[in-house]
Amino acid sequence: TPRKDNPLYALLEQAAAYYRQQLRQHPARQRAVSYLKGRGLSGQIAKLYDIGMAPPGWDNLMSHLSRDTTEQNALIEAGLVVENPDSGGRYDRFRDRIMFPIRDSRGRTIGFGGRVLGDEKPKYLNSPETSVFHKGQELYGLYEAKQQNRQLNEILVVEGYMDVIALAQHGVTNAVATLGTATSEEHLKRLFRLVQNVIFCFDGDRAGRQAAWRALNSALPVLEDGRHVRFLFLPDGQDPDTMVRQEGADAFRRRLEREAQPLTDYLFRHLAEESGADSLEGKAHMASLALPLIEQVPGGMLRRLLRQSLQQQTGIDLDTVEPAVMPAVGQPAAPQERPTHD
Ligand code: UTP
Ligand code: MN
Ligand code: MN
Ligand code: MN
Ligand code: MN
Repeated sequence: TPRKDNPLYALLEQAAAYYRQQLRQHPARQRAVSYLKGRGLSGQIAKLYDIGMAPPGWDNLMSHLSRDTTEQNALIEAGLVVENPDSGGRYDRFRDRIMFPIRDSRGRTIGFGGRVLGDEKPKYLNSPETSVFHKGQELYGLYEAKQQNRQLNEILVVEGYMDVIALAQHGVTNAVATLGTATSEEHLKRLFRLVQNVIFCFDGDRAGRQAAWRALNSALPVLEDGRHVRFLFLPDGQDPDTMVRQEGADAFRRRLEREAQPLTDYLFRHLAEESGADSLEGKAHMASLALPLIEQVPGGMLRRLLRQSLQQQTGIDLDTVEPAVMPAVGQPAAPQERPTHD
């Protein structure tokens, strides 16, 4: 666990200030400014999220923030400088990118995401795990959401930096993003300390649908009675950024109200599709998939309702199911770096 006075915090803050400054003053800033404007962002929202720019070149940040090897080592520990293991050469991790500082819920900068301005790969580059940055726990935009809302009742979980920021630009100020990792049980615990309502709204593509099912699995073990998890599935090819820009905030909010499905509806619908639940074989398959998931739900009332519903849907008297045939409850999978796509 990081000590309170971990020197990396100050260093990361200096880096954020440097990137912010470059976006204001660097001779090549216009390309980055046009890019952000082209994505519909105002200067005000760029300021709120402290967006910056890493200039082109191999050692801009390094030469600005370090004078000797010891100081360079600190930059490596902060994930800002990379050492080539073969040559020993050192260079800035983030070059020629739009920079998104990642803050912890208290507002301290703990890492960065960087986006290329064009079509180069990888599109997004994130800070590595460091002593202050733990991807499986942090939620991008949570600090800013708290800043913009005196009282949060509901949090929207999206995939990307630009989804969070575009939503905020349109006045939907309660979105956060997981950071290129799967939604973990740790993320969910953190969210439920703040709100009782969580809505997942991932991209309308295969990766987004897979992320939703993984999020469901992370949510089950923390689903106490009184907590609500819903899922909004977007039309193919859309993400929250393109959606809110296309239809505006009011339509987006209506969509959330009308179309977000309760976790339990999604669970049964998904399993029914998976198992072909209209035959007896399908019903048996569905029950065998559903039971171990239902047994993970800690909320006693919800768990009973889920069992009843499964019983109605399959016609199986679940009270007579021998415990031995019930598969063991699996440990939640460790969060994984998502595979780079498109
Ligand atoms: P997406 O791949 O959906 O981003 O990844 P996008 O919507 O195409 O990006 P834009 O709109 O063109 O900017 C969503 C999120 O997944 C993480 C990032 O956090 C990103 O915001 N990601 C994606 C990575 O970490 N690395 C990648 O290579 C891609
Ligand atoms: Mn996507
Ligand atoms: Mn996008
Ligand atoms: Mn996307
Ligand atoms: Mn993509």
